[in-house]
Amino acid sequence: MKVLVIGSGAREHALVHALRLDPQVTEVTCAPGNAGIAADAACRPVDVTDADAVADLAADVSAALVVIGPESSLVAGAADAVRARGIDCFGPGAAAARLEGSKAFAKEVMAAAEVPTARAFVCVTAEEAGRALDELGPPYVVKDDGLAAGKGVVVTTERDEALAHAASCPRVVIEQFLDGPEVSLFAVTDGTTVLPLQPAQDFKRVGDGDTGPNTGGMGAYSPLPWAPLGLVDEVLASVLVPTVREMARRGTPFTGLLYAGLALTSRGLRVIEFNVRFGDPETQVVLARLRTPLGGLLHAAATGRLSEVGGLEWTSDAAVTVVVAGKGYPESPRTGDPVEGLDAAAAVPHTEVLHAGTALDGAGRLVSAGGRVLSVVGTGPDVRTARARVYAATELIRLDGGHHRSDIAAGI
Ligand code: AMP
Ligand code: GLY
Repeated sequence: MKVLVIGSGAREHALVHALRLDPQVTEVTCAPGNAGIAADAACRPVDVTDADAVADLAADVSAALVVIGPESSLVAGAADAVRARGIDCFGPGAAAARLEGSKAFAKEVMAAAEVPTARAFVCVTAEEAGRALDELGPPYVVKDDGLAAGKGVVVTTERDEALAHAASCPRVVIEQFLDGPEVSLFAVTDGTTVLPLQPAQDFKRVGDGDTGPNTGGMGAYSPLPWAPLGLVDEVLASVLVPTVREMARRGTPFTGLLYAGLALTSRGLRVIEFNVRFGDPETQVVLARLRTPLGGLLHAAATGRLSEVGGLEWTSDAAVTVVVAGKGYPESPRTGDPVEGLDAAAAVPHTEVLHAGTALDGAGRLVSAGGRVLSVVGTGPDVRTARARVYAATELIRLDGGHHRSDIAAGI
């Protein structure tokens, strides 16, 4: 089976690695990919938000399966365009991708499906925003309704800052503040059968101790030894299955990966957000632990045969990933800085270096080409060991002005 992976992040690098381990998969192409992915798979240029270009490329490489990474591509209808060519695709069509593309739509679906989530108001004007803030009280949570690459949410106790964020977005969702630890749980679905993966935890803020602005994600680990017993079953029954049923009932079935971002509050679990694709960086740690061959699994989901897969198999290992970001990320990342020390890092046992924003410059040197540059992954018999390994590798990497969090999976 020839597989085409769309995207260029560390998530796609992890997907390419896992697909190559599946004996059913004969060839992997990635578009557009990055300098690290190019060492593992053929890369082709593509504008991921141009649905027809994605479909043309899928036909051109004779893909039997297309796996779409970025939400921007799904929201633009790339999965619909691929399927219209008769090619199997893992990922929701544009109508179902609205679960991530519009936070207001996601709230509407959750209400209809009786999925537990924060009380929320959809606001367009400053008056509406002001009223919502006063009704809910601090801390204030203001979310851009549309896609914002993980950076559209402001959580603050300052009313002025909350109002200013609302004013800077055409439409916002203002919602109740949820406390308690956050968990990311992914499920693979063909629109009917829902198979949950293992939970992971993401570190969203840029700085140690959860300080500074939100990012796309600075690190992750899995499993969560502290998670309540039965968490996955509870999320499956109260969140994932009702949402998939509701999407089918609306005539816009959801197929692909449904990502539930959850808060485990003192009053029970609540959905913070849905994403409609593999999360980054959680995918790097979840796939490091998955034993079930990935190509067969995603193809079964893409073709309505997920019930034939049965249960998923996992290693007993833990995995931790640390994201190395460029100077200025997330506000204004600088690119073009040389990235060095990767051979030394890769020589640390039980680690791998996945690439996100990397490219080769004119002289063939590896340089940074995006805000998140690398995602270093370590595995081991427990989180502590995996963590020690990933940091041993990360410390060997040199990127001028680069930064990473030093407290990913600390104390777990
Ligand atoms: P989102 O893009 O919706 O996942 O939000 C990004 C991050 O903002 C989340 O991972 C949380 O850390 C934080 N956040 C979002 N919604 C809430 C909420 N209702 N209460 C507290 N924190 C939130
Ligand atoms: N890790 C957060 C995301 O993928 O949106």
